[in-house]
Amino acid sequence: MSETTADTTAAPQAGAAPGQQTPARRGAAHDSAFLRACRHEPVPHTPVWFMRQAGRSLPEYLKVREGIPMLESCMRPELVKEITLQPVRRHKVDAAIFFSDIVVPLKAIGIDVDIKPGIGPVIADPIRTAEDLQRLRPLEPDDVPYITEAVGLLVDELGSTPLIGFAGAPYTLASYLVEGGPSKNHENTKAMMYGQPELWAALVDRLADITAAFLKVQIEAGASAVQLFDSWVGSLAPDDYRRSVMPASTKVFDAVAGYGVPRIHFGVGTGELLGLMGQAGADIVGVDWRVPLNVAAERVGPGKGLQGNLDPAVLFAPTKAVETKAREVLHAAQALGTSGHIFNLGHGVLPSMDPDALSRLVEFVHEVSAR
Ligand code: CP3
Repeated sequence: MSETTADTTAAPQAGAAPGQQTPARRGAAHDSAFLRACRHEPVPHTPVWFMRQAGRSLPEYLKVREGIPMLESCMRPELVKEITLQPVRRHKVDAAIFFSDIVVPLKAIGIDVDIKPGIGPVIADPIRTAEDLQRLRPLEPDDVPYITEAVGLLVDELGSTPLIGFAGAPYTLASYLVEGGPSKNHENTKAMMYGQPELWAALVDRLADITAAFLKVQIEAGASAVQLFDSWVGSLAPDDYRRSVMPASTKVFDAVAGYGVPRIHFGVGTGELLGLMGQAGADIVGVDWRVPLNVAAERVGPGKGLQGNLDPAVLFAPTKAVETKAREVLHAAQALGTSGHIFNLGHGVLPSMDPDALSRLVEFVHEVSAR
């Protein structure tokens, strides 16, 4: 993290058209390795951050979260700021990811959702009919004042370290809403997608609007980049993705295109979908560990960056093995040329990971990629 400059506290440029304004506070991170890599510009080293870098792997997280339910913690700006900063302080990662959850915007519009420890999001009344859909009203910035406040606090504190905002993508959110909770086979979700295509299209379209509004709040408050998590979309075949999901994801990316902030798109098990996920409107495609980055580069095509993709489980092996596998990732990323790669895990940090192993990995990636 770097010092806060006078610039970082300045107000957004007055009079700038919506979608065009660049808050001066976001400008402080403009030349960071992370944002330079997003723009395919030369970097001093490959930037690195970790999905779920904030959370249960960190003792300092467990301490501040004690007795506070997950979703309540997302609504306390000072706590969100502290939790978001913890991994930046500890690991010296090149970007912070906003501490929140993909179901926060659903909670904010009145959906009865809770995050149960060890399970994940649980929806009291699943969305299964046209009538249920009425409960998915649009999200207004006033529904999430705590997000605006927390992003503002963070951007001021982070200075030249970029803040990544995020949201859940329509398919993944729909899966939680239709199933009522986490699901292995997404059977109710797919039953609606195949059996009631009009209802399905209306559902993911509403979710696209909610997601776009949630991302806009974060960008307008100063987030430097956004990541759209479609964690469970790898359960679909390409034709079904193209027909039933891609229009909604494209709507989200189009809605935030005018801000000019990099848009990252990530899912798990998406080897067959990487090209389409890029076409949906991502500037950077996140890749899990199943597809080497040189192969992913071919599938995604020229002009897009890649993020990933060390198998998270590698972190449980001895340091030497972690370094060997990290080198393989960096080597495969050379297919992109000299920039455009953001080092990450192929999915999130696991709660049982040794935080010191993550800190060592950041240092190692910085050292061996220095140029
Ligand atoms: O550091 C970060 O990456 C930022 C914070 C973040 C959280 N959730 C905090 C969180 C992010 C980016 C998310 C996104 C999210 N939430 C996704 C997409 C990313 C992915 O992993 O694919 C999904 C699918 C969810 C839904 C969700 N929320 C799950 C499956 C869980 C885990 C439940 C459990 O206890 O195992 C959550 C809860 C959650 N979200 C935690 C954190 C830190 C753990 C809750 C706790 O600490 O009590």
